[in-house]
Amino acid sequence: MGALAFFLDLHPALGDFRADVIKGLSEDKKSISPKYFYDEHGSELFRQITDLPEYYPTSTEKKILIDNAAEITAAPGAGAAVFEYGSGASEKIEWLLNGLDQPTAYVAMDISKDFLIDAASAIAKRYDLPVAAICADFHGHVHIPENILPTPSKWLGYFPGSTLGNMTPEFAARFLRRAGETLGGDAQFLLGVDLEKDNAVLNAAYNDSAGVTAAFNLNLLTRMRRELGAEIQPEDFEHYAFYNEELSRIEMHLRAKKRTQIALDGHEFTFQSGETLHTENSYKYSINRLKALFDETPWRLETYWTDENAWFAACLLSNK
Ligand code: SAH
Ligand code: AVI
Repeated sequence: MGALAFFLDLHPALGDFRADVIKGLSEDKKSISPKYFYDEHGSELFRQITDLPEYYPTSTEKKILIDNAAEITAAPGAGAAVFEYGSGASEKIEWLLNGLDQPTAYVAMDISKDFLIDAASAIAKRYDLPVAAICADFHGHVHIPENILPTPSKWLGYFPGSTLGNMTPEFAARFLRRAGETLGGDAQFLLGVDLEKDNAVLNAAYNDSAGVTAAFNLNLLTRMRRELGAEIQPEDFEHYAFYNEELSRIEMHLRAKKRTQIALDGHEFTFQSGETLHTENSYKYSINRLKALFDETPWRLETYWTDENAWFAACLLSNK
């Protein structure tokens, strides 16, 4: 019990944010990566989303994990170490650490630095095991520092929350291949994925009545103003989210309510009334499409658990 075993800061530079915003706003179809949602306020807004009655993924996934905890935690055997991608508030780790047989370490990795340090430090205080944190972009290659943590029997990658769904299937396959390299030959991977379901349920989850998802989406504009000095009138934009059935994904956009501009570093980007800035995709999978995705990676689907409505799946992957 105590402090973090290490904190590795590979936090993306502010210059990357600036360059990505300019590039994204210069495209015919304007877009920005959802990874920029997660400044400290954005991370807190996401935490609030997970408590919303309409946002079923969090409660559904937690129930699947808790209901099947004994079987899931038995799978890696004794002495495994957990590497959690996009750990956020580290709210889905305790059941796993409590259930594993003599886990040797927990490494939390996220792009949201202050949130990550707070969450990982809280776990370090509660558990008698080495806890470390890595602030990095999981689209890059991640290397676990050697000789600091005890050598585990195997690494268990853990990626809950369907954050994989925020990547295109092509990026998701690339991410899983990189995770295979990071975690090594004998690893397993526990992955939470949101499944296809009734459109009304999906649309409600991303258009909640309390307006928290709208605030989460609009916070991107406030962040661009604060961190980049962009000239923006956030009140000229509105939250716009819908299920694109053809592509099996929720799309989130910021839609201009009238003709407006964003000015940044001498550039001026005009939005016509109704034009959108595409901020996020959230892909919803079928089990067959998941299997096809895993086929392009070093992982094979060993087994999966789902809820009574088959709304969400917790997948256990092993190296092929
Ligand atoms: N695992 C939590 C949080 C999910 S929210 C849950 O299941 O509820 C998505 C998390 O991924 C956030 O904490 C966000 O900061 C992180 N994240 C988003 N894009 C990222 C990226 N490119 N690299 C690393 N972390 C990222
Ligand atoms: C983190 N990620 C899986 C969430 C999702 O459902 O795609 C982010 C989110 N966007 C809007 N609400 C929640």
